[in-house]
Amino acid sequence: MRMYDIIAKKRDGGVLSRAELEFAIGGYVAGTVPDYQMSALLMAIYLRGMTDEETATLTDVMAHSGDMVDLSAIAGVKADKHSTGGVGDKTTLVITPIVAACGVKVAKMSGRGLGHTGGTIDKMEAVPGTRTEMTQEQFFAQVNRIGLAVIGQSGHIAVADKKLYALRDVTATVGCLPLIASSIMSKKLAAGSDAILLDVTMGSGAFMQNLPDAVELARQMVAIGTANGRRVAAIITDMDKPLGHNIGNALEVAESMAVLQGRAPADLTEVCLQLAANMLVLAGKGTLAECRALAQKTIDDGSAFEKCCQMFAAQGGDVAALKDPAKLPQAAYSYELTAPADGYIVENNVERIGAASVSLGAGRLTKEDTIDPAAGIVLHKKLGDAVRAGESLATFHASDPGLFPVAEETYRSGLVIGPEKPAEPPLIYARVTADGVETF
Ligand code: URA
Repeated sequence: MRMYDIIAKKRDGGVLSRAELEFAIGGYVAGTVPDYQMSALLMAIYLRGMTDEETATLTDVMAHSGDMVDLSAIAGVKADKHSTGGVGDKTTLVITPIVAACGVKVAKMSGRGLGHTGGTIDKMEAVPGTRTEMTQEQFFAQVNRIGLAVIGQSGHIAVADKKLYALRDVTATVGCLPLIASSIMSKKLAAGSDAILLDVTMGSGAFMQNLPDAVELARQMVAIGTANGRRVAAIITDMDKPLGHNIGNALEVAESMAVLQGRAPADLTEVCLQLAANMLVLAGKGTLAECRALAQKTIDDGSAFEKCCQMFAAQGGDVAALKDPAKLPQAAYSYELTAPADGYIVENNVERIGAASVSLGAGRLTKEDTIDPAAGIVLHKKLGDAVRAGESLATFHASDPGLFPVAEETYRSGLVIGPEKPAEPPLIYARVTADGVETF
């Protein structure tokens, strides 16, 4: 077999076989297929696309390029979730304790933030003392004991994806649905859970900017999971507004704990309940209505918050900081960003809000950057809200006041105040399962 022929076949619109995909991906990981040939293949895939079956096979080959975690040492159904990324997206910290409090095991690997999107592991590490690395034995033991563990993704998961993603990043081939779907799902398949809920975000802060693309990505990921023997559903959620009001690691922990304690903004709580309910349905806990009631009950009776405290305690985290946000890292300086005029917020670009938060120290632009757990933004007004000139729209938090001007300029570059109230985006656009697409 020759890489040249595989590239030519895809260039001409052919469908690659398992043997050809194994040759290309295996060779790339082993170093026998050079970057220039893999780049050509990626571009051919970008331009020609892939069939569902081809994408499912590619994903399986990518998943098997590293460790396949065997969760059979953990009793019962194991559920996982994944978000395609956003700003203020703290749902993992909320819904995994809810689901675990309902008796479903969650053995989850999460990532760190990069660019304008945050990562669960950085958020967890904002809680003093929290460990996000452990051995597989410790990981399994914790899940068997308390039903929940969230740790950093091992470097040995879907090794091909790491190499391919870095190449896609520099060859203009990131924005290709079969490549995104296979990249995400290879890691999810390798992580070993039976039931996988995907949160596909859509809007100015997300990878997907319109509903047809978001539905198609969701459909492809559900098809991949189903073809590989997993129960998978996807919820398409709005990212034209950040989720909740807090952006930044410690700030997001505080807001997540508020959801678990039943004292958070209604929109954030609603999205979390819907995601948790869908995860519970996949885990076989009942109908959507029954699972929604189960999820709500864990907030009302305090069991979800208690489960979250158990997880942090097991991972060395200071539970007192979960109970009292004043004990989380606090920034030394704050700055109020005010409205320039009376009117409505008709545009508040979420990527710009995320970038402003990164420039305050809450995120990283390169993998090597360190983050400031206390830095971030608290939004007081969001897309669609009425504002008065001089009123505070957001409070910036940072350890260095010299960071405020750039953050302000970045934030304002995506902000438009106008006379008319814009149409509000819905919280949830659609639900995609193996049975089809339901739009709301
Ligand atoms: N997230 C991933 O893990 N991979 C992609 O290709 C895009 C988003």
